[in-house]
Amino acid sequence: MALKRTVAVGAVALAVFSLQPGGAQADGRPGQGVVGGVPAQQGEFPWMVRLSMGCGGALYTRQIVLTAAHCVDGSGANTSITATAGAVDLNSSQAVKVKSTRVLQAPGYDGNGKDWALIKLAKPLDLPTLKTAGTTAYDSGTFTVAGWGATREGGGQQTKLRKAEVPYVDDATCAKSYGSSLVPAEEICAGYVEKGGVDTCQGDSGGPMFRKDETGAWIQVGIVSWGTGCARPRYPGVYTQVSTFAKDIAAGAASLGG
Ligand code: ARG
Repeated sequence: MALKRTVAVGAVALAVFSLQPGGAQADGRPGQGVVGGVPAQQGEFPWMVRLSMGCGGALYTRQIVLTAAHCVDGSGANTSITATAGAVDLNSSQAVKVKSTRVLQAPGYDGNGKDWALIKLAKPLDLPTLKTAGTTAYDSGTFTVAGWGATREGGGQQTKLRKAEVPYVDDATCAKSYGSSLVPAEEICAGYVEKGGVDTCQGDSGGPMFRKDETGAWIQVGIVSWGTGCARPRYPGVYTQVSTFAKDIAAGAASLGG
């Protein structure tokens, strides 16, 4: 429970970040999000979306963003969110901005697991979508994460997209760190358990964790959800297990009109 309270504090901090214009890094250095990563290339992850409350997301359809439940306030009509897409640099003239019209927060979300939500956009974006895993077949191996969040614990939000690779961590190992705060059927962990050093961090929430399928196409297996600090040894990142919710997400997207 104490761990979950840590997550809630992170979400509040994010709201504060999102009120700061420009997304300048707190310590004044130039940089990009995700701990221990490198800059993403323009067009490398074309379905990546930055949300104005300070979260990430991925295009599930051209008009629906898949993000984390803890990034939104609830379900219903909502025109307060701006999605920015189409550019690694949020300040680039290539960046496309579109408002939300509706939000669907995972039914039954109470801060413990079920950390997914859908945001319907005012108009479809002319960008590729990210396929989601419908089975556990891809819930292993090495994953890629990307985001505009902090590059270290307590660091500022970034204007340029950053990426990193993190290995799968099995539930038993992850539960050694997080005990009953982990919901194994609904969450999948990733990171370097012994060394730490690479992780998502505050502001990356809602963004995708993904890998290649056997055809070489990117497939989403996780949604950035929570962790104790960022990139700490013995505290891997915890992600919503997309395969668990694939049917619910599809039904939710259909209810938003696709
Ligand atoms: N809850 C954070 C957010 O709202 C994401 C934290 C991810 N933490 C981690 N160690 N992987 O942005």
